[in-house]
Amino acid sequence: MSSTKLTAPAVAAKKAKKERIAVVTAYDATFARLLEEGGADVLLVGDSLGMVVQGLSTTLPVTLDEILYHGRAVARGAKRAQVVGDMPFMSYQVSPEEALRSAGRMVKEGSFEAVKLEGGVRFAEHVKAIVGAGIPVMGHVGLLPQSVHAMGGFKVQGTGDDAERVLADAHALEAAGVYSMVLEGIPSELARRITDAVRVPTIGIGAGPHCDGQVLVCYDLLGMYRDITPKFVKHFGEIGQGIVDATRAYVSEVKSGAFPTAAHSFGAPKERATPPEPTGAKPVVEPVPPVYGPASEES
Ligand code: KIV
Repeated sequence: MSSTKLTAPAVAAKKAKKERIAVVTAYDATFARLLEEGGADVLLVGDSLGMVVQGLSTTLPVTLDEILYHGRAVARGAKRAQVVGDMPFMSYQVSPEEALRSAGRMVKEGSFEAVKLEGGVRFAEHVKAIVGAGIPVMGHVGLLPQSVHAMGGFKVQGTGDDAERVLADAHALEAAGVYSMVLEGIPSELARRITDAVRVPTIGIGAGPHCDGQVLVCYDLLGMYRDITPKFVKHFGEIGQGIVDATRAYVSEVKSGAFPTAAHSFGAPKERATPPEPTGAKPVVEPVPPVYGPASEES
């Protein structure tokens, strides 16, 4: 696997090369490292963190400062994957100027290499302003979680005549200069039409198999978020159960006294074996090894 940083043009170029794109959400440095080691092309710091990290029922309360905080953490862990930040609700809606200001903060203070925002025709000017400042934008059409109240819930979009509206949104984003776009919660035939119609890669979630790539929330793909399992989610591991089992084992050993053993404990600092100088100088005590440093023979 290449160790070169994946850039927005490189992600966009994958469509022509027919290379499918694997996007995963990430919210901290440890997950970023592991997901990247697993081969993820793009790490998205999604506002889904409101639901899976903060325990909220929607993404609406997530703030720009929270996205910036998680972005810095993910960027520290990601060496190769592109790091994209979700623009939270009300950080871009008011005007193209405000959208640009927020996107600028995301690059300067959140270490993001691209931003994502929800909406098509209505936000084309906002996208243009951000792209015009040299910040790559990933679009997002179909089911827009930040419009949950307007949609009347997290409902599939683009069914029946509504398909033309979602298609128009996708075209508007392409014309505004996005380098890729998420298609969320739409019928798979509409996702196929959009994927065939636009030159930039489409990244599906609940949009069927015809997109140029897929995105999943990492807690979903790892089987850690067990409150709801939507139809489009597949657990590629049962890490949630692994956490429960490991914690049970830990709790049981703490309660029984089986953990920690001498192997997990520190001894007293050793005195150097050489005898003290005849001058009566005190024996030299070996330096105490660092608790979090590399393990030494002494520890
Ligand atoms: O917030 C998020 O994680 C997202 C993806 C699921 C597309 O927007």
